[in-house]
Amino acid sequence: MAVIENSKVAVIGAGSVGTAIAYACLIRRSARTIALYDVNQAKVEAEVLDLQHGALYTGSSQIIGGADPSVVAGAHLVVITAGAKQDPGQSRIDLAGTNVRILESLLPVLMEQAPNAVYMLVTNPCDVLTVAAQQITGLPDERVMASGTVLDTSRLRQLLATRAGIAPNSVHADIVGEHGDTEFALWSQARIGPVPILDWQPSSTAPERRPFTHAELDEIADTVRNAAYKVIEGKGATNYAIGISAARIVEAILNDENAVLPVSIVHRGHHGIDGVALSLPSVVNSRGVAQVLDVRMSAQEDRHLHASAEALKKVQEDLGI
Ligand code: 2OP
Repeated sequence: MAVIENSKVAVIGAGSVGTAIAYACLIRRSARTIALYDVNQAKVEAEVLDLQHGALYTGSSQIIGGADPSVVAGAHLVVITAGAKQDPGQSRIDLAGTNVRILESLLPVLMEQAPNAVYMLVTNPCDVLTVAAQQITGLPDERVMASGTVLDTSRLRQLLATRAGIAPNSVHADIVGEHGDTEFALWSQARIGPVPILDWQPSSTAPERRPFTHAELDEIADTVRNAAYKVIEGKGATNYAIGISAARIVEAILNDENAVLPVSIVHRGHHGIDGVALSLPSVVNSRGVAQVLDVRMSAQEDRHLHASAEALKKVQEDLGI
């Protein structure tokens, strides 16, 4: 495989998340063509126009779109954001039934236009919807993924980086499991540069900084778990950070990067998880998920992972998927 020439990503849904993804892809030049599709013609055409009007300053990426599914034709990657969104006080899981039904009518239409694409779910609950999407499309597991905990991992690294006074991309730590209430931080593998996080010592020139404690790490993981609730309470939705996170995954796919990102796919026995989609650090390239890495976990992390899988399985059973 190789970098995709004339790459095309289709973003489904012109709401606050879909448009934030399209905008992030446009300004980061994540794809050659970005197609925005929504059944609401007036809204999608207005959003496309608004995005096109910045063309002078966005380089060679072009944005197209509309309410006719043919705008998706030939996409290498389809990113799905359409569906009901969380109201304040609702969990992601509360949206499951409604959004599975939306996928049942949407995916066959999209598959007709982009039969060879990789599909990425951003709509929540994205892990449960990944299982549903894989079943509806019959595509190989590696071509149906969710953005999963890529966003939560960014939230985690941002908090750790700010606390330590270190650049976020020099902080190596991941949130894994469900993109939701049972997610957890893989602290046993977390590092600042090559230094295990609990061994990290601040510089003598920054005496105000302190090493991390177990209690503080737990508090940071809690803040990450509740981050979306906090944003939704204040502004009704999260959109910018998921826009940037999704654009980063788009790049890993369209540029055939083999980048390690904690995306979610359906697992078939990996870590003893079967028939459930959740996030683990995975190698992402133009085929989709090329490999799920074998991560060494502490006994407690292993229990958390299985609790997350059990919680998701229960939702799937309730939905009959
Ligand atoms: C987020 O985590 C709500 O899933 C969305 O921002």
